[in-house]
Amino acid sequence: MKVFVSFWLPEAPIAILRQKHTVVMNEEQRVLPQDELIAGLADADAMLCVGSRVDKTVLDAVGPKLKIIANWGVGYNNIDAEYAATKGIMVTNTPDVLTETTADLSWAILMAVARRVVEADKYVRAGDFVGFKPFAMLGADVWGKTIGIIGYGRIGQAVGRRAKGFGMRVLYHNRKPVADDPSGAEYTDIDSLLKESDFVSLYVPLSDETRHLIDAKRLALMKPSAFLVNISRGPVVDEQALVDALKAKTIAGAALDVFEKEPEVTKELLTMSNVVLTPHIGSGSWETRTNMAHVSVKNIIAALDGQTPPNLVNKPVGPRG
Ligand code: DGY
Repeated sequence: MKVFVSFWLPEAPIAILRQKHTVVMNEEQRVLPQDELIAGLADADAMLCVGSRVDKTVLDAVGPKLKIIANWGVGYNNIDAEYAATKGIMVTNTPDVLTETTADLSWAILMAVARRVVEADKYVRAGDFVGFKPFAMLGADVWGKTIGIIGYGRIGQAVGRRAKGFGMRVLYHNRKPVADDPSGAEYTDIDSLLKESDFVSLYVPLSDETRHLIDAKRLALMKPSAFLVNISRGPVVDEQALVDALKAKTIAGAALDVFEKEPEVTKELLTMSNVVLTPHIGSGSWETRTNMAHVSVKNIIAALDGQTPPNLVNKPVGPRG
């Protein structure tokens, strides 16, 4: 059967696909525009989707054989999974495999903004380090502070576990309290979490409910000494409201791995020294990103073998193809 892979991926997982199926891969590291995507999907039985937007227009144009769209990524807001289900198309994602790596980056950017690592690096490279100054380039303590985690699923909990090592108080907000959480985190409502936390960190999926979850009103609840960390999806934060809060110094700084209009970044953020910016690299280690491809491949092989893939996220109506 034909598997269309929308973006270059490492050979190891793709070789497994090739053992049973014909693989047509976009060999470039370039997200395909809609017309190329539709052309690639015309006679495909499966799609391995890397970063492409698969909306109603694309789904209406795909060929009749398409059974599965295996998203490379845990977040699948790029795919209209509900509409795909009405056409009998399965949609899968890649949970678990990226949890710890994403939690690591979350801490990396949190610490970078708190301890001014990026600024300090620039300072040394610029030749400004001409002698030890005990009261220069001072940052905020992380250890012993309070972290507020919004979205306490797999990644949020992995962040919470790490916070224990820093002797921190962990607050979290989630749709439901989590049973048996080893971090000893305290469940609270969002507004109390925002008021009490020194670091507010976001791990919610993007949905109508979470778009602009952090808006001007909620930013205003944060302490002037607090930092915001976003490694979930850009539109969860109203980016202009964040810029306004940073300018007005009603919060101390922000660390962002995702952006509201990615890959565009609100220009003012680029000039702010109390902001750390990374290009959507939460799960970005070679091992993890390759393992994500392995998970997508497993989902495709299962679906094309007539089985329910392990990471199905929608409820397709009836069989297809
Ligand atoms: C994910 O897994 O959702 C990452 O953001 C990569 O898309």
